[in-house]
Amino acid sequence: MHPGIAAATGYLLPPEAYWTEEWFEREQRLLFSRTWHLAASETDLANPGDFVTLEAGFDPLVVVRGLDGELRCFHNLCRHRGMGLLAGCGNTRTGIVCPYHFWNFGLDGRLRRVPQLEDQFPGMDLASWGLLPGSVGTWGGMVFAHPDPDAGTLDSWLGELPKNIGSFQPALLTEVAHEHLVAQCNWKLFVENHVDVLHLWYLHAGTLADFDHPRFEWQQLGRNWVSFEPLKRGVDNPRLNAATTTIKHIDERDAAGLGAHAAFPNVLMATSSEFFVTYVARPVAPDRTVVDLRIRAEPDADAAALVRSATSFIVEDIGGCERVQASVRSSRFGAGPLARDHERPITLFHQHLSEALGVTSTNGAAACAPNA
Ligand code: FES
Ligand SMILES: [Fe+2]
Repeated sequence: MHPGIAAATGYLLPPEAYWTEEWFEREQRLLFSRTWHLAASETDLANPGDFVTLEAGFDPLVVVRGLDGELRCFHNLCRHRGMGLLAGCGNTRTGIVCPYHFWNFGLDGRLRRVPQLEDQFPGMDLASWGLLPGSVGTWGGMVFAHPDPDAGTLDSWLGELPKNIGSFQPALLTEVAHEHLVAQCNWKLFVENHVDVLHLWYLHAGTLADFDHPRFEWQQLGRNWVSFEPLKRGVDNPRLNAATTTIKHIDERDAAGLGAHAAFPNVLMATSSEFFVTYVARPVAPDRTVVDLRIRAEPDADAAALVRSATSFIVEDIGGCERVQASVRSSRFGAGPLARDHERPITLFHQHLSEALGVTSTNGAAACAPNA
């Protein structure tokens, strides 16, 4: 065990968790290939043939709306020799044709045509070689995908979270911006930062100065997490500010505060008087994370202004996480004691992650055992 890590600190993961390929691969296979992923806004998939692709751990997936209007999720690889089928997003209304040898699949996943079928594939049963299914679900105007066709429901993964995000009802909002930010850090540092209450006073001393951090409240809901903090007393309610487009249907409490939530492991959310934001911390390398930011707001909101507002503190978070990342390979790296309440969610995140990965805990530090 690294000498800097001890059970008393509450910081349960060893430094290796933040930079080694071994941890990265284990997380990809045992965590991200086995969980729900935010794939799209429902408006991205409004018409038959609309599709989006995504990576669920090492599993490339595609979500497509069929001619019958149903959303379906498939593994985005050809059943012949495994070529990736679709890239990015778009519309493929006439079906999915593999570029390699032109196997032709319907939007329902069935294999419809194979060139030279009778001559080269005698006796082949097309019905056996359709696309492999995953699962798909929707919540709040957002589409989620899971690589396992027998995954538990999206509702059970979200659990009590939707009921505890206040009055936002994200389905009533419009996605007005979609941006990607790159963080040169391990994805877990970004999640830990998101559930760290203590840094609000300091790292965000300027950007979040209007909020009353001593009245910050958080709640652990199974593996998920929700929180809220009000504006300081005496700070003008944003509804009184003509320059802002506050969300019409939210209540007075939500119009005068900030929410931050997390669906385990990496779907992070923030709410304000003007927006409901999701930002997924998507690991692309042990020391590199893409932050996939989507802003939902009133349709007439100033999207550029909302991007500036939401990213003002996210950019500070990324900067902080990158500076921790720069230290994690130091022979002297280690965590000291965590704040009893304000950093407790980090310990809980580490516990849930350790359980998901099946890592053993020795004197409080999780060791990455040989691959399961
Ligand atoms: S790999 Fe797709 S048709 Fe051959
Ligand atoms: Fe932050």
